[in-house]
Amino acid sequence: MKILVTGGAGFIGSNFIRYMLKQHPDYKIINLDKLTYAGNLENLKEVEDNPNYSFVKGDICNDKAVEGICEKGIDAIINFAAETHVDRSITDPQAFIKTDIFGAQTLLEAVNKYKIKKYIQVSTDEVYGSINDGSFKETDFLDPSSPYSASKAGADLLVLAYKRTFDTPVIITRCSNNYGPSQYPEKLIPLFTTNAMEDKELPIYGKGENVRDWIYVEDHCSAIDSILHKGEIGEIYNVGADQEKTNLEVTEAILKAVDKPKSLIKFVKDRPGHDLRYAIDSSKLQKLGWKPKYDFEKGMELTVEWYQKNEDWWRKIKSGEYLKYYKKQYGRR
Ligand code: NAD
Ligand code: TYD
Repeated sequence: MKILVTGGAGFIGSNFIRYMLKQHPDYKIINLDKLTYAGNLENLKEVEDNPNYSFVKGDICNDKAVEGICEKGIDAIINFAAETHVDRSITDPQAFIKTDIFGAQTLLEAVNKYKIKKYIQVSTDEVYGSINDGSFKETDFLDPSSPYSASKAGADLLVLAYKRTFDTPVIITRCSNNYGPSQYPEKLIPLFTTNAMEDKELPIYGKGENVRDWIYVEDHCSAIDSILHKGEIGEIYNVGADQEKTNLEVTEAILKAVDKPKSLIKFVKDRPGHDLRYAIDSSKLQKLGWKPKYDFEKGMELTVEWYQKNEDWWRKIKSGEYLKYYKKQYGRR
């Protein structure tokens, strides 16, 4: 199988590429990534010499870049490329609308033009919005709160519209909050883990009562692998591991793992439009035979260990050294 992975230099995309090349050594993977601040080719060092892996620097909004790959014959596109950080979407919403919506539409056009057999849109549980009790099913309506989740919801609707209008062979996945190796240290778990290692404050928004359902990134990768092979065209699959934690619980787990005091916790002004709780029902996906392998305790142990062993990786990002180097190499913003 020949797969175009977009956004493969980011956190989940790079974990997915490494996972797939191990699981399916005969598959070919082309990674199309614009290398924004979040794209990091160091995440792919392990596979860069693998003859079944290749990298193309390019924007999913650029139809020529996308078509240049698709015209050579692709069996499936898996779209991870996106602007992904809620806080950034509050200060710069337009970048999210461009990549997350227009980018997805550009890929859908290529799927139609080159008759690609499968398009997987990697979406998020954030499109449903917040839920006080119970959990969202795939049939629930979308009620996003941030420009990030609204952009992802916009893309989901467009993907479904392409199915109805053009019979485009699409599948949508909606996963909960991921954590694990090589997550950019702007998201809660890597930011707090690395801050704690540097004896810096951990800025908890509001009272730290917000709840997220945490999934170890490898479980998300195995879910997409199952959906790629067993998922039904036109369907949506929630992907969650039923590991709900408040932000305060997550923070305390991090402090315990790195043996740092609770005095590093600082309660700061809340994020505007901050969703209180995310929860999804993944039983539809489990019927395909998938189940998560890691509970929160094991996943956190592996994650903290990775950040401890890879200080060079995150220190270069946090100091700005990494961006300067790649700006020279790749001329990115
Ligand atoms: P990330 O921010 O770490 O990586 C995004 C990648 O996309 C980067 O490599 C970046 O360079 C690339 N990219 C951005 N704009 C691009 C463009 N216009 N063209 C080509 N490449 C571009 O994100 P992530 O956390 O790995 O998330 C990947 C996907 O999974 C996203 O679609 C996100 O919405 C979804 N998702 C993430 C989570 C999570 O907890 N991180 C949960 C559910 C779903
Ligand atoms: P984040 O990792 O940004 O993911 P998302 O907002 O997409 O769920 O944030 C996870 C939770 O942690 C969310 O409730 C916001 C909170 N948070 C903080 O309290 N402080 C921080 O510095 C960050 C980045 C997040």
